[in-house]
Amino acid sequence: MSRPPAVTDPQIVARKVAAAPGLRMPPPPKYDLRPDGRVDNYRMQDMGLLRKARNRVGQLLYNMVVTYIPSHHVRLAYLRAFGAKIGKGSSVNRGTTILDIEFLTIGDDCCVGARCMLDARAGLYLGDNVILASDVHMLGGGHDINHPDFLPVPNPTVVEDYVWIASRAMTLPCHIGRGAVVAAQAVVIKDVGELEVVGGNPAKVIAKRDPEGLQYSGRFRAPFW
Ligand SMILES: CC(C)(COP(=O)(O)OP(=O)(O)OC[C@H]1O[C@@H](n2cnc3c(N)ncnc32)[C@H](O)[C@@H]1OP(=O)(O)O)[C@@H](O)C(=O)NCCC(=O)NCCS
Repeated sequence: MSRPPAVTDPQIVARKVAAAPGLRMPPPPKYDLRPDGRVDNYRMQDMGLLRKARNRVGQLLYNMVVTYIPSHHVRLAYLRAFGAKIGKGSSVNRGTTILDIEFLTIGDDCCVGARCMLDARAGLYLGDNVILASDVHMLGGGHDINHPDFLPVPNPTVVEDYVWIASRAMTLPCHIGRGAVVAAQAVVIKDVGELEVVGGNPAKVIAKRDPEGLQYSGRFRAPFW
């Protein structure tokens, strides 16, 4: 084995950034490559100790304690204090786990349901009026399964305005176009086009959405929820 670990195609990342200029991504991985191809001193995000410590502590406390506090105000204030960008009218319901709060961006009037898992370690962007039902898992990458060090391959996710991701769906790193719908229990393994309704595992197009429907507000904030 004498190749560096896999990275996400820079063109894929560039397309996501172009679709969502508000996407915030961590600094890229850094490592030393030995002559035999093995990797030493791997750092998934090449950042200073203080920033890393703040992120780790913030994440730990959020996921162990703050996410269960029955107050939208407290949870949102905490997430913003630890670097998340969250627009007005949005909510993140109780029991949701967030990995790397600093790289989470949520637009206006979005609703993230209960017990979701938002993996923002590679950057996760939700536009405006995006609704995630309960128990949705959004992943931030995978691993180079053929490299002897099994290193992570971070890859950001972009979700455009008016997307609805239904209960228990799982998304691998992808770009979900404006107004798309991900059906319950779907596993999204590739990009979803504008207004497409996808379902199943792996998710395939099952319908098309009427663009006239995209006029509602995703603002939903039940007290103590
Ligand atoms: C995606 C969804 C909205 C589609 O609803 P619908 O328009 O009423 O669709 P239908 O039930 O008429 O089904 C249309 C087709 O999609 C398929 N389909 C529907 N839901 C599916 C799913 N979750 N996974 C895979 N295929 C699905 C149906 O089998 C049907 O296929 P067919 O035409 O070959 O028979 C709905 O199935 C869904 O997933 N709802 C999520 C509910 C939820 O999570 N609620 C939480 C509240 S926020």
